[in-house]
Amino acid sequence: SSSPAVLTCKAAVAWGPGEPLVIEEVQVSPPQPMEIRIKVVCTSLCRSDFSAWETQAIFPRIFGHEASGIVESVGPGVTEFSEGDHVLTLFTGECKTCRQCTSGKSNMCQVLGLERRGVMHSDQKTRFSIKDKPVYHYCAVSSFSEYAVVHSGCAVKVSLAVPLEKICLLSCGVAAGLGAAWNVADISEGSTVVIYGLGTVGLSVAQGAKVRGASQIIGVDINPEKGEIAKTFGITHFVNPKECNESIQQVVNRITDGGADYAFECIGDTGMITTALQSCCQGWGLTVTLGVPKVNPELTAHYGVFLSGRTLKGSLFGGWRPKSDLPSLVDMYTKKEIQIDEYITHNISFEDINQAFSLMKEGKCLRCVIHL
Ligand code: APR
Ligand code: ZN
Repeated sequence: SSSPAVLTCKAAVAWGPGEPLVIEEVQVSPPQPMEIRIKVVCTSLCRSDFSAWETQAIFPRIFGHEASGIVESVGPGVTEFSEGDHVLTLFTGECKTCRQCTSGKSNMCQVLGLERRGVMHSDQKTRFSIKDKPVYHYCAVSSFSEYAVVHSGCAVKVSLAVPLEKICLLSCGVAAGLGAAWNVADISEGSTVVIYGLGTVGLSVAQGAKVRGASQIIGVDINPEKGEIAKTFGITHFVNPKECNESIQQVVNRITDGGADYAFECIGDTGMITTALQSCCQGWGLTVTLGVPKVNPELTAHYGVFLSGRTLKGSLFGGWRPKSDLPSLVDMYTKKEIQIDEYITHNISFEDINQAFSLMKEGKCLRCVIHL
């Protein structure tokens, strides 16, 4: 077949921090060696897109990293994918050859890990442009575009039978929460869990805890509307810090008779890490971080919380090796062993993408799926 050419399509471009996205005609270059170009089918808005759009300085930029699509063309050297394959995008990739990838105990690929500068891993350039000026990427995915170029190590093939408009959520938020519960914390049956922040990420931790048979799953959120929906994901106790006369750690310590076995930070507020540590039990209490803080990234905690045997553990994408492990999660969805659909509170057409940002700002959604 002939080699792929530059194509022109519509993309939602962010021109400055916090400015509404503008649907623009953009040029998308052909996939370079080991890259693929995909036609994005669905993408959801994740809190990380929102935070980066509000606070970061790299513009113009195309956000979006939680997505599903269909391979349109492949670059030189790609044998794993062909035109028509269905894929999920990966905001953190897996090369399968570096020290981290071959360790068998990590998903922190040294080659295709989280990309923060808005360019592609291989050549530090962009594949998008408007009138020959570069338009930057986000996490080397940029799914708020009809077409996107990604490294073949930053996509995973899925069965043609699974609905792309649902499983895009496994590309980030839902998988991250389930993985934190299963891989990172490895929650055991009958244990007690406290989750800070009941967005899609926190409520996916709740689902993971429920599947493992946790006896108490306490959810903490300042949005009173989260109490009701949280129950459908397995939350047994809802705590709103704004309605408590005592500290959250006191409440959790009382409910769990001395602290939860596991605590999860799913807000992106480093102050909450201290609270989480204080609300997990002495001896073996484990706090897992999933949130990505946009301000005040430094942590403070009294060493006493560790002297008493607690552990603080970080995670990215729930510890899943994205290419190796995601197919099994897709299988679980097909067999109805995990829920995804319940996190989709809104379906939005591409032209209305700014509505998804408004809904997230107002705390009115879990996931908005944007249909391209
Ligand atoms: N105390 C308790 N809950 C809070 C607080 C607080 N101080 N601040 C915010 N929250 C709640 C919000 O009300 C919301 O329900 O945290 C929840 C966060 O949910 P979302 O904004 O939907 O975010 P989500 O996509 O779940 O991501 C959570 O993980 O991947 C990271 O960048 C992401 O840091 C973010 C976190
Ligand atoms: Zn690697």
